[in-house]
Amino acid sequence: MCRIPGGLLLGLAAMTVALAAPLTVTSPDGSLAVSFSVDDGRPRYGVTRFGRDLIRPSALGFVIHGAPPLDRDFRVTAENRRTIDETWVQPWGEQAEIRCHCRELRIELTGGEPAARRLTLVFRVFDDGVGFRYEIPAQPGLDSLVIMDELTEFALAGDHRAWWIPAYQPERYEYLYRATSLSEMDRVHTPLTMETADGVCLCIHEAALTDYAGMTLARRAGHTLKADLVPWSDGVRVRATAPLVTPWRTLQVADTPGGLADSRLILNLNEPCRLDDVSWITPAKYVGVWWEMHLGTATWGSGPRHGATTANAKRYIDFAAGHGFGGVLVEGWNVGWDGEWIRNGDLFSFTRPYDDFDLEEVCRYAAENGVRLIGHHETAAGIANYEAQLEEAFALYERLGVRTVKTGYVGYGQQIRRVDEAGRVHHEWHHGQFMVRHYRKVVEAAARHHIMLDVHEPIKDTGIRRTWPNMMTREGARGQEYNAWGGDGGNPPDHTTILPFTRLLAGPMDFTPGIFDLHFPEARPGNRVNTTLAKQLALYVVLYSPLQMAADLPENYRARPDALRFIQDVPVDWRHSRVLHARIGDYVTCVRQDRHSEDWYLGSITDDQGRILDVPLVFLAPGRTYVAEIYRDGRACDWRTNPYDMEILERLVDGSTTLDLRLAPGGGQAIRFRPAKEEDIRRLKDE
Ligand code: NOJ
Ligand code: CA
Repeated sequence: MCRIPGGLLLGLAAMTVALAAPLTVTSPDGSLAVSFSVDDGRPRYGVTRFGRDLIRPSALGFVIHGAPPLDRDFRVTAENRRTIDETWVQPWGEQAEIRCHCRELRIELTGGEPAARRLTLVFRVFDDGVGFRYEIPAQPGLDSLVIMDELTEFALAGDHRAWWIPAYQPERYEYLYRATSLSEMDRVHTPLTMETADGVCLCIHEAALTDYAGMTLARRAGHTLKADLVPWSDGVRVRATAPLVTPWRTLQVADTPGGLADSRLILNLNEPCRLDDVSWITPAKYVGVWWEMHLGTATWGSGPRHGATTANAKRYIDFAAGHGFGGVLVEGWNVGWDGEWIRNGDLFSFTRPYDDFDLEEVCRYAAENGVRLIGHHETAAGIANYEAQLEEAFALYERLGVRTVKTGYVGYGQQIRRVDEAGRVHHEWHHGQFMVRHYRKVVEAAARHHIMLDVHEPIKDTGIRRTWPNMMTREGARGQEYNAWGGDGGNPPDHTTILPFTRLLAGPMDFTPGIFDLHFPEARPGNRVNTTLAKQLALYVVLYSPLQMAADLPENYRARPDALRFIQDVPVDWRHSRVLHARIGDYVTCVRQDRHSEDWYLGSITDDQGRILDVPLVFLAPGRTYVAEIYRDGRACDWRTNPYDMEILERLVDGSTTLDLRLAPGGGQAIRFRPAKEEDIRRLKDE
């Protein structure tokens, strides 16, 4: 069970009929308030913080095909309030215990006599933000809902600075973030992160996206944003039957960027765990036959440079077993990669290995060595082909002891082929309702076969890992792979200082850190990894993922065993996580405590600027001495000219110590803090 009972649920119900005045609900600490009113029949909401506007009165409602719009002629016919205060435990995650504490206001609207139509709005106000959603109850004339538009607006109170990626683009979510004022945006994905002129940090996103279209945001006049649901190819946004419950629209609010990253609001708005037994769900680190394909020295397809051979897989298994990695990913193992695989998604077999890859033998050898194969299903967005094989494919892996599958949906823009009941072909986006349904179907099928998922080219995370904790991690942004082949030379040094406050606010990311050989002139002369070596280590703490890859080749790790030590030690399952300080796009320092020991870990990274950051170690247990195992940029280090310069040292510290973290341009620092033993104290005290 992943939910602890014993949480408190305080009901404070009150029913009033035909209310006209604005209805207000405040957060438990009183800092945030949502007010709801019906102006001339039209529902509106606004959000304030300490009495100042964050969201000015904004529209709500829907346009429904074949029915009058669901945004007018309403009056309030009931209101219902309660306080929720419960604590639940994640089976794995960035934080073990999570408190869900909020005030809820449920408002029932009725209108349009004599054929009265009904719409319910539910607001939940937390100390760290607001969630609201619609419920369209079953009612005459609205059993089947064809939603042509969701009218939700976010009338932001200022032209804030925003970090965003564009929506409706060929490469899905894989773009560098841009930082501009809101008025310079057009249509963008969520999470959309903003900072007001007063330094308040905001993020608009959504929670519990289940059977609905993904929400993008379109800028209206000035700095008002409107929900822009990714449409089906025929322009319909959502097909549903009443009663319909929409995803939550969320606004997270914090005084610092770190406050956004430490918020658990998205998870708190998701349903509790649906699985009775989660004992098979185990976070892990993995290596894989992967980077060599991205470097172009091996191929996914068959031939003389085929990466997924039995012998090569065994080489990685040996490395994993010798260095404590739980999984080995092997891509390109199955028939279908030959030719232009990106255009031939319908040719993939998910059960037939290439002749030079003995799947059964690889799994047997892995088990013998205490390692598991991580399966791979690249679909190239051939959805019908994949769905037809889903059961058989997962059953095969389950039989062979595979517990994790990485899926992939390479395919550009509105290109996903869908064949309707009449045999007509349509082309869909990755982020509309058709694909939201598909991604969820795969999560549920995987759960039936005790399989964890790592989804590349996914639908964005909206916290469903709380309900389906086998949905471990996703890509959904520019990852490490862009450093191998990105036409722009790869991810610039500030990219990973933005991700924790944008993409990762949605949930864990499979960025695939840990490249040690930062230059590869023979393989890819125009590319390199734009960081220092120490920064690659720090990313294991900064970028949270329950499945964390050590992405480089075994030979590159064997060449640097001292640095590899940190990747071997760093956990992937945490008791506490906290951002100590950050400026989005400049630097970030995170600390996390291991869920299964007393150890703490720190990761600090910077953009192109070198910096010295003070870190008081106040998070360490009082009165206890720790050994800090420090991996830091050397004195002469610079990501451009001398990225491998790294110092590894140990020193004694306690909760009263302040460390000066010296980060080279493009650099970072990674630290493990472990309780000191007497021999450590003797050894290190005079240093
Ligand atoms: C794109 C994924 O992001 C990458 O990790 C994978 O290797 C390729 N697709 C092939 O499936
Ligand atoms: Ca990708």
